[in-house]
Amino acid sequence: MQKMRPTSNSLSTGLLKWYDRHHRSLPWRLPRGSPPSTVLDPYHSLVSEAMLQQTQVATVIPYFHSFVDRFPTVQSLADSDLQEVLRLWQGLGYYSRAKNLRAAARKIVEEFAGKIPSDLEELLSLPGVGRYTAGAIRSIAFNQPAPILDGNVARVLCRLDGILGDPKTPAVRALLWERARAILPGKRVGDFNSALMELGALICTPKSPNCHECPVKSHCKALAAGMQDRIPPPRKAKAIPLIHRSTVCIRHGQRYLIEQRPATGRWAGMWQFITFEEKTASAATLKARTHLEISSLRRLGTINHNLTHRRYEFAVFVCDAKNVRSAPKTNSTRKWLTLEDLERFPVPRPHLRIVELLRENAGLSS
Ligand code: ADE
Repeated sequence: MQKMRPTSNSLSTGLLKWYDRHHRSLPWRLPRGSPPSTVLDPYHSLVSEAMLQQTQVATVIPYFHSFVDRFPTVQSLADSDLQEVLRLWQGLGYYSRAKNLRAAARKIVEEFAGKIPSDLEELLSLPGVGRYTAGAIRSIAFNQPAPILDGNVARVLCRLDGILGDPKTPAVRALLWERARAILPGKRVGDFNSALMELGALICTPKSPNCHECPVKSHCKALAAGMQDRIPPPRKAKAIPLIHRSTVCIRHGQRYLIEQRPATGRWAGMWQFITFEEKTASAATLKARTHLEISSLRRLGTINHNLTHRRYEFAVFVCDAKNVRSAPKTNSTRKWLTLEDLERFPVPRPHLRIVELLRENAGLSS
């Protein structure tokens, strides 16, 4: 006799029961045991979802606390100075998220009277808010029947439904969005979506999923076919390009010449030691760029910085500037700063590591 397919109701019941007992308590979630009608501050949802894009939960937690302490409301973020926002984001990476979040707050103040909208189209009109983030805010903060699909949820759904295709392809993604919508329960939609993500993070992990402990294993086609390790199919690892940079810490007394990066691109608007898009630097290239005469360059070390799709190698040099008085004056995008002064500015992570190198080498002459 053919087995009856379990209903989506029992899927959500089992999943929510597990979530109630096992979910991690996270600052952007309601406390465990909150009555089902309780809602979350949508601003907390907006901030946390921006931070959680491409970033692990454990990394985000301290940043989330500092951010909402300093900017507790949409209005306070709309009134903020971008440099201060970037400084709070420092180390979290993908800084366009911070810029977009601030721009979203300004738009919410200007166009939505300071209230985060719950309407899909209005949410999608905010900078940095895509279909996933809109669904997360609508379901988690407003308990609206909105689906979400992130990497964790895609993996869970592929396994539950025994979908063999690659979830990154448009056809499979479209199918998964439809499934994510179809399985939403009538109540506790936000908790249900959070539970799908939590299941993907804690049990239905990319490698060696813990099917034994899974609250919805009886619904899982991948498990029934013994294919949980092959769904989703492993992707071919792409070669990650290595990019060379050279950075020169130009010193004058206790100060270093620091430049602001352009307003667009990677690490936009942040502050760094003088950096060249080349493998090495010379007195001549430094003179052309800064008009400074320098003492001979001393190699300080190498900093490697790995991102998801790029690897950077920074060759780091230090030197003393000789003609600071006759060289052109510093301006709003170039300053002489002590390492302590630099602590007030947003600085890309590799340059923070250069600061550490300088501190470790303090006292050695160039
Ligand atoms: N990843 C993305 N959004 C999340 C959320 N709201 N909770 C936990 N992990 C997440």
